[in-house]
Amino acid sequence: MRFKDKIILVVGGNSGIGLASAQAFAAEGGIVRLTGRDQATIDAAVAGIDGARGYSADIADLDAMEAVIADIAAQDGRIDTLFVNAGVGGFAPIRDLTPADWDHVHGVNLRGCVFAIQKALRLMGRGGSIVATGSIGGHAFVPGNTAYAAAKGGLYAALKVIAGELVSEGIRVNLVSPGPIETPLLHRNPGMSGADVDNLREAMIAAVPMKRMGRAEEVALAVLFLASEEASFITAANLFVDGGTLELG
Ligand SMILES: NC(=O)c1ccc[n+]([C@@H]2O[C@H](COP(=O)([O-])OP(=O)(O)OC[C@H]3O[C@@H](n4cnc5c(N)ncnc54)[C@H](OP(=O)(O)O)[C@@H]3O)[C@@H](O)[C@H]2O)c1
Repeated sequence: MRFKDKIILVVGGNSGIGLASAQAFAAEGGIVRLTGRDQATIDAAVAGIDGARGYSADIADLDAMEAVIADIAAQDGRIDTLFVNAGVGGFAPIRDLTPADWDHVHGVNLRGCVFAIQKALRLMGRGGSIVATGSIGGHAFVPGNTAYAAAKGGLYAALKVIAGELVSEGIRVNLVSPGPIETPLLHRNPGMSGADVDNLREAMIAAVPMKRMGRAEEVALAVLFLASEEASFITAANLFVDGGTLELG
């Protein structure tokens, strides 16, 4: 029960890694608040987590995120742990990359995440912790990944600065960077058929030294560790949950 009575906000908590983490926080006593865009999966997630509350809010829409934080301020008065996990993908070779693709990925994965942290901070204090979701894609060569790699690499760079600025306030800030994880994200790549997704999965498994996809629950275990007091001497870390892919692949 590492999170007993803690207020936990999971931004992007209605699917995949975010949902598994929201469920794991709640299983350890956390009071979960979660966001996403899709109302049906938000409702389903909240229905499955005792005492949870959900918000439909596009993280790229700073006013929508402001409204979420304002409501948590009014109803809960504080945030103890913030997990900023919302993210989108999409592959385009450099010759095909459009400014709109770039802006969409960066609006969610980098700009949205940074300003979600900024907004939540006014409800956080000493002992608080922030975890964000990076990706090995921010550190490795993946063809067609220019926009995503830049956004996730940028998030890593931004978090180091934020972590440094918040040390004196007693708020820890860390990144979890997954490798290939079996989540709905795989099926959300624009223009990919079912066969394309199967080929992509096979290619990813081939690149993983452990020769399998990771599970969302395995990433959630790392998120909870970094968010918990067990990681009391850890800030500005980037923990890879990737079956050895980055270092051994
Ligand atoms: N799966 C992998 O292999 C992998 C590898 C490395 C890193 N990651 C990262 O892990 C994180 C979670 O991804 P996942 O694999 O669990 O995929 P997922 O199941 O597609 O979950 C993505 C989450 O982000 C939310 N989200 C996306 N765009 C949003 C927006 N504009 N505003 C608010 N919420 C938004 C989604 O909500 P809706 O469903 O309502 O849109 C959902 O909760 C992402 O940051 C992703 O980049 C994943």
